[in-house]
Order: sequence, then structure tokens, then C-alpha cells
Amino acid sequence: MPEGFTVWFTGLPSSGKSTLARLLEPVIQRRGLHVEVFDGDEVRQHLSKGLGFSKEDRDENIRRIAYVAGLVTRTGGVAITCAISPYRALRQEARQRIGRFVEVFVQCPVEECIERDVKGLYKKALSGEIQNFTGISDPYEEPENPEVVVETHRESPEESLSKIVRRLEELGYLPPEGFGGLTPVPVPTYLYREIQRRLDRSRFHDVSHYVTHLLVQALDDLQEMPITDQQRQQILGRLKELGYVE
Ligand code: ADX
Repeated sequence: MPEGFTVWFTGLPSSGKSTLARLLEPVIQRRGLHVEVFDGDEVRQHLSKGLGFSKEDRDENIRRIAYVAGLVTRTGGVAITCAISPYRALRQEARQRIGRFVEVFVQCPVEECIERDVKGLYKKALSGEIQNFTGISDPYEEPENPEVVVETHRESPEESLSKIVRRLEELGYLPPEGFGGLTPVPVPTYLYREIQRRLDRSRFHDVSHYVTHLLVQALDDLQEMPITDQQRQQILGRLKELGYVE
């Protein structure tokens, strides 16, 4: 089973957490891992239904998210969470519970968030229609040592995304593109459907990576098989030519 991890986004409302989470999801899937996204807005409709925005309720919301993210991580998946998670202590608690934890601080000046006001809630908070709104009338405690900081007011979403992906690779959480130095095998269309049917979806979402994996396995097994060294070299040479091995 592959090892899981959690990418924990934190930042002010309208800072760009959900946007980045949704961009990150397919990138991780393409590397052959199973991904679940826990978005604050969505979580509050079921898992955290009925919770409000007092400190106690936010803490409870974060504990619930950390709990499910921990389950996904423990079972080899990747959890991406995007809740404001304004309190340092609760993010720390989540980090400790989950272990393999990558905190991404989505930094954006509050003035810019007010300008964006994706859901029109800053306007309501500023006029007093909504109380305890993070960044206006409720605190946001910035992370002190996040693994990644993205600055969405001066980076494009793609730039921020690639910062995150590079960091995940550096930390060893994501295999580098091309499956550990291997170029994924191109699969002819007529075989594609059949292979897709056999895919072990908990590990591979992508036919090319799956086939590459089988090839590498087969090559390893060949060491036990009665083939001559010359044959083995030929096979390796051909795979090199095709760019499947280095
Ligand atoms: S958290 O503080 O508990 O982490 P969470 O991310 O789940 O918050 O939910 C934040 C979302 O709830 C915001 O994007 C916004 O749409 C909505 N919301 C409603 N009231 C508030 C409020 N007082 N403060 C922050 N967000 C609010």
C-alpha cells in the first residue's frame, strides 16, 4: 500500500484555498494516488452540520476534519483539506494526529480578499450583518512554520500549484513525475479500455502508470527467469531506448 499524507490548506476566506485544492487534486491522482478533498464549506453541510463560528465550534469542525483526514492518510490515501482553520493550536493538534502532514499557508492580504469577496460575505461582515467573520471580526493566526507558503495576490494559481507540488516531491511525499524516473508507457487505444477495467483503483488512476508499474515488476521478476544475460541486456536496452528506464 502506498503511504498516505495530508495537505492542509489554511488561510483567510477568499484567499484561494479551494481553488488550489481543486487544482492539486488531479495532479496527485495522476501520480497514481487516491485523493479525498475535505472542503470547509462542504464539510459544514454534513460532517459538521449545525456547527457555527464560535471558537468552540470552529475547533470542533477542525477536529472532525483532522479525524477523517487522518483515516484517509492512514489507509494510504491523500487527504486535502481546505478550511480556514484559523487557530494555530488546532492545526498543531491536527498535525500531531495525522503525522504525515503538509501545511500550506495560503497567504493573501485581507484587503485583496475583501476585493475578491467570492461569496459576498466580507461585505456583510463589514456592514455588521455577519459577526465573528475571520479577518474582520474574528482572529486568524498565521502559521509559524508551514511547509509551504503561497502568495495568491502575486502568483498565478499555476505558480502556487507548482510550488506546492515541488515541495511535496522534495519532502518525498509525491513520486517525481514519470513514476520514479520512468516515463509512463503510452498505451494503444484498443488496449486502453481493457486495461482500465483491470486497474487497481486504490493504487493507480492512470493506465499508463499502471502499465509502467507492471513492466517494472516483470523486469524485476525476469532476474529469476532462465533468460541469458544477453537477452536481459537487450530488453533493458530497448526499454532505455523507449525512455522507460534510465
Ligand atoms: S473554520 O474557521 O471552521 O475553519 P470553515 O473553513 O469550515 O471555517 O468555513 C468557512 C466558510 O464558512 C467561509 O468560507 C464562509 O463561506 C462561511 N462563513 C460563514 N460565516 C463565517 C464566519 N463568521 N467566519 C468565517 N467564515 C464564515
